Amino acid sequence: MNLVIINCSPRMKAKSNTNMIINAFAAGYTKTGNTAEIYQLSEMGSWEEIRKAFYNNTDILMALPLYVECIPGIMTEFLETLEPKVPAEGQKATRLSFILQSGFSEASQRRCCEEYLRVLPGYLNCEYGGVLMKGEMFVTHLLPVPAVDKVLEPFVRMGELFAREGEFPEDEAAGFNGVEYSSRKTIILYTLMSPLQKLFFRVFFKKMGCRGSLTARPYEKYIR
Ligand SMILES: Cc1cc2nc3c(=O)[nH]c(=O)nc-3n(C[C@H](O)[C@H](O)[C@H](O)COP(=O)(O)O)c2cc1C
Repeated sequence: MNLVIINCSPRMKAKSNTNMIINAFAAGYTKTGNTAEIYQLSEMGSWEEIRKAFYNNTDILMALPLYVECIPGIMTEFLETLEPKVPAEGQKATRLSFILQSGFSEASQRRCCEEYLRVLPGYLNCEYGGVLMKGEMFVTHLLPVPAVDKVLEPFVRMGELFAREGEFPEDEAAGFNGVEYSSRKTIILYTLMSPLQKLFFRVFFKKMGCRGSLTARPYEKYIR
């Protein structure tokens, strides 16, 4: 089976956490002879090619980061260029599945977007194939090698299962998504760790070339 995978992050391929997840998922998916074509919405010059892949294939996976509690703007822009699919005589319906990954750990953060992804395939005359959700992915592309492999390995396994079962297995997918709300203990721990975390961010962003204050609000003067 051929799976068309579309990275819906606006981040360039080399810096995109979603792309790393896609590569891990595709490695698992193709282990048993399936094939995967990977496309990037951030490469806007290739949108015509992506649209062709969307119209010519019946198994499509959109992988996206959560941006401000829903889908990234670039994905909205791309979706607006698509027409609902019209299956040719005898052709099976298109199945549209999703991987939704985000920074914050709580599953509740992803529920609003999940609801949207449930209805989206209907607008495109496709069938909903399910959504695999995962949090705590903020720093994936910054992790060193053994740590990053540990984070991505479950996606390789999910790729294998998706290829074998034709969908995300319900129990394992629920385990991916983590707890709905952080426990009181976790919240207290985060609060205690906060000064240390701020220090870490200051050093970290300085290393990445940040010159100003992390609390700077450069656009404030434009707000009336
Ligand atoms: C503009 C922006 C908005 C974001 N909004 C959220 C959010 O609402 N909730 C969340 O958990 N993570 C949020 N994140 C974190 C991203 O979902 C996370 O870092 C993701 O791994 C980025 O994937 P990418 O590198 O492929 O774009 C946001 C990140 C950015 C840059």
